[in-house]
Amino acid sequence: DLRIGEHGYKYRLVEGRVMPPYITPARYALSRSVRTRASDICFVSYPKSGSTWLSYIIVLLTTTGADDPDPDRSGATTLRGSLHWVESSWTYPRSAEDLERAAAPRIFKSHMPYPMALGGEPAQNPCRYIYIARNPKDVCASYYYFESGKSWSGYYDGGWDHWLDMFLGGRVQRGDWFDHTLSWWEHRDAENVLFLRFEDLKLDTRGQLERIARFLGVRVSDDQLREVERKIGFAAMQQTEFSALREVKEFSRFFRKGEIGSWKEYFTAEQSEAFDRLYKERIGESGLEFMFE
Ligand code: A3P
Repeated sequence: DLRIGEHGYKYRLVEGRVMPPYITPARYALSRSVRTRASDICFVSYPKSGSTWLSYIIVLLTTTGADDPDPDRSGATTLRGSLHWVESSWTYPRSAEDLERAAAPRIFKSHMPYPMALGGEPAQNPCRYIYIARNPKDVCASYYYFESGKSWSGYYDGGWDHWLDMFLGGRVQRGDWFDHTLSWWEHRDAENVLFLRFEDLKLDTRGQLERIARFLGVRVSDDQLREVERKIGFAAMQQTEFSALREVKEFSRFFRKGEIGSWKEYFTAEQSEAFDRLYKERIGESGLEFMFE
């Protein structure tokens, strides 16, 4: 059921939502059926919202704050290797048995909306879920850069105007941004859900690191936090060996600018206004707010 859409953009429909080709029915079923444990951590986001950044934070905090700090506890030498991206057919472990055997804490990556979460309904799971959201103009621009002909996937060869139309119509992989983000926002007060924003992480890194550490129940000293903060800076992270996503072709596409407001390089004034109108309508009275610059 692989489909080729507008401008060569490949996708699959999973539960009626547009998903990447690598979300095969078997992988999705495996992801939904994971039996989670209290020591599990699942970080979730819409694409291009800072998930690589968050993943490094989680890996550093859980290894720094552990009684027996061992960044290679799972034998992983790369960031990607220390995560379990169950829904993706690219990645290991391959089977439910592999997952059962994986060392604690198991760190899961997911890009699913709440109703399609890893392990089934989060409210019924002991797993801790951390969702990171980002203002949708930056998401849309970052995603365009990532998916367009200039980018690593090479899926999409339409232009910016067309991409914006696809994004607003929910026709890009992972579907409608508003649905996705609001689906987790609604559960932000659940005990096992932490809702973060990219902009807060950027402007108040230290405060957000403390929030994440508290949520995960890890004990970290001031010095350790300072060290984590240093390692996750944009430039530091781009270069560090452990975070190297070099096994992924053109890994540098995961680190474009790391800023707030770079959407302005893509949106025309008219597009920005139209976006704002739709944003107001869709965000409605939910209370969800973002900084756009
Ligand atoms: P830009 O394209 O706006 O630069 P994801 O990891 O979910 O795919 O998100 C990618 C976005 O996060 C990219 O945004 C990338 O530059 C940004 N990013 C990655 N690491 C970062 C860091 N350490 N600090 C700030 N932004 C970072």
